[in-house]
Amino acid sequence: MTEAKLISSSIKENHTDYSKTSVPNRLLLGPGPSNAHPEVLNALSMNPIGHLDEAYLELMSDVQNLLRYAWQCNNRLTLPMSGTGSAAMEASIANFIEEGEKILIAKKGYFGDRLVDMASRYKANVIVIEKEWGDAFTLDEIQFEIEKNKPSVFAIVHAETSTGVLQPLQGIGDICRKNDCLFLVDAVTSLGALELFVEDWKIDLAYSCSQKGLSCPPGLSPLTINDRAEEKLRNRKTKVPNWYLDLSLLNKYWGSDRVYHHTAPVNMNYAIREGLRLIANEGLENIWNRHLENSNNLCSGLTELGLELHVSSAYRLPTLTTVKIPGSVDGDAFRNHLLKNFQIEIGNGLGSLSGKIWRIGLMGYNSKKENVDRLLNIFDTELKKFTFFQSATF
Ligand SMILES: Cc1ncc(COP(=O)(O)O)c(C=O)c1O
Repeated sequence: MTEAKLISSSIKENHTDYSKTSVPNRLLLGPGPSNAHPEVLNALSMNPIGHLDEAYLELMSDVQNLLRYAWQCNNRLTLPMSGTGSAAMEASIANFIEEGEKILIAKKGYFGDRLVDMASRYKANVIVIEKEWGDAFTLDEIQFEIEKNKPSVFAIVHAETSTGVLQPLQGIGDICRKNDCLFLVDAVTSLGALELFVEDWKIDLAYSCSQKGLSCPPGLSPLTINDRAEEKLRNRKTKVPNWYLDLSLLNKYWGSDRVYHHTAPVNMNYAIREGLRLIANEGLENIWNRHLENSNNLCSGLTELGLELHVSSAYRLPTLTTVKIPGSVDGDAFRNHLLKNFQIEIGNGLGSLSGKIWRIGLMGYNSKKENVDRLLNIFDTELKKFTFFQSATF
């Protein structure tokens, strides 16, 4: 027996002092994660089975088929990557860009910045076009930059969670095809919630997450790539410089071979199957309308309370509303009040918008009339308690 002494696992004297794991019951109306659907939580709690078990392989095929419906495409290589949205984001860069290749990134918020950071780590030749945080690109601007720069990949965020902007995507795919460039879309805050047609809009590769429109906990990131993207992957001159995210290896597990790559997070795949099944049952069009209606009601309610929205109605994102914090209000104190006394989470602004806006999410299971009404009532009664001086608006 070794003479080494056990290290206590905490500053508590006795490491057996811990109580059973529990967390408060919160209503997550921030930028994500959103609350998981109760049926998803039921699915998640089933016992793991082997990741090469026949029953699990069948479940994987269900997940892929249901994902194709959610993405509105027939792409063969459609799978949930292990890891949060950033994992599939990084896979999109690591697999489709080789050192020195040109990627044009249309950046209009925090997550555009993340794409730029990732692409430069993979030594891409990164060209960035920028918009104010709260604005979107026009098709003409995108066409001009693609024709001028001739990139191999053009990347843009569909639903910018940092600003509350929904970027129109129709027409971009045609421009990319004419210019022999792959069209890459970040759909982290749109999949399963907002109108999105991967095939019809000629999107070559897109990624998302499990914790927003799909009403699951964080942990998986759906990715889909079409034949054009598959061809680019096949024709790489160099190995994908990231083993875990290498799609040619993952394809052997998620394709017909079912060869072990890494131990799949099986319970998360139970969860996503259930989240996707619920989406298919409700129907995408109904879901898109539900998100739009609840967001419209939230926006008009906030405006009626005298608050100002950050994004113009033309580009407003139904899954995430950004509202300006009135100059007379301590934004953090109000958010903390909602969390502590009402068990409701809303988000602060990110980056340059920190302290200037709140971010209110209505995503997946949480996009409900009762949540909108509850939040608006609380804003109505509570916000006035947080103004430094009583202004006429409140
Ligand atoms: C638009 C967008 N892209 C990427 C990400 C990164 O996803 P994750 O935090 O799940 O890794 C997020 C996270 O919220 C996001 O909103």
